[in-house]
Amino acid sequence: MKGDLKGKVAIVTGGSRGIGQGIATVLAQNGATCVITGRDEKRLALAAQALQSLEPACRGFRLHVEKLQEVEEVAKAVFDAYGRIDILVNNAGITSDQLLLRMKEDQWDRVMETNLKGVFNCTKAVARYMLKKRYGRIVNISSVIAFMGNPGQANYAASKAGIIGFTKAVARELARKGITVNAVAPGYIQTDMTEAMEQRARDGILALIPQGRLGTVEDVAQAVLFLASDAASYITGHVLNVSGGLYI
Ligand SMILES: NC(=O)c1ccc[n+]([C@@H]2O[C@H](COP(=O)([O-])OP(=O)(O)OC[C@H]3O[C@@H](n4cnc5c(N)ncnc54)[C@H](OP(=O)(O)O)[C@@H]3O)[C@@H](O)[C@H]2O)c1
Repeated sequence: MKGDLKGKVAIVTGGSRGIGQGIATVLAQNGATCVITGRDEKRLALAAQALQSLEPACRGFRLHVEKLQEVEEVAKAVFDAYGRIDILVNNAGITSDQLLLRMKEDQWDRVMETNLKGVFNCTKAVARYMLKKRYGRIVNISSVIAFMGNPGQANYAASKAGIIGFTKAVARELARKGITVNAVAPGYIQTDMTEAMEQRARDGILALIPQGRLGTVEDVAQAVLFLASDAASYITGHVLNVSGGLYI
């Protein structure tokens, strides 16, 4: 899809690689100035450099999404630098898989803090600036695992289902303020996260996907572009599955 995002400023958390990098690239190709965040300084700098060839004002900010104070500082720095924040894509996320009885408390906490508390922190920090302009597009990256469950991913599934409840509640809160809040639920997408899977597990998953292939970061990015564009201005509180039919 082609969206006109000229003059818009977007923050993409976890934009230094994988799906987030793909999303930032597509938003920048459509005219947005993208601020990407991540923890690894080197990877962030490389990804920001690549984006600058599309839109020179793009930048990277180092950020741990689970730390509210850091998130608030970055949101303020972005607003001070660009004078607006129009789009927030809450994409940063991790897995730490283990069957329930073997799952350590720390595995539960880390996944919930990054995937769910991170979305709360970033949305809370950025919504304040969107409210000033009475305009905003927030897109949260959930997962089909929120609906389907998956053995070994009780922490991840809970965090991603939490994002959906959060999306719907905040969509209602902000609906009259010109701000839409939606979620995208990807199926299995080719990134570092799925690269770590064993071949047998990968073959098993392929057999379950009606379209017979893993998704690409571009597949997810195009869905985000739509929800971030003015074409989607009457859509809020919605969850868009991008899964090749894995979840129907
Ligand atoms: N890949 C899939 O099949 C799939 C399917 C459904 C949903 N998803 C979701 O899509 C999102 C992106 O997945 P991906 O496959 O692209 O993952 P990925 O390749 O592992 O990239 C994750 C990104 O998040 C950043 N990040 C991780 N923890 C962070 C933290 N605490 N604070 C700030 N940034 C952090 C990483 O940067 P640093 O490591 O430098 O911090 C990186 O940029 C995740 O929310 C994931 O759950 C993925």
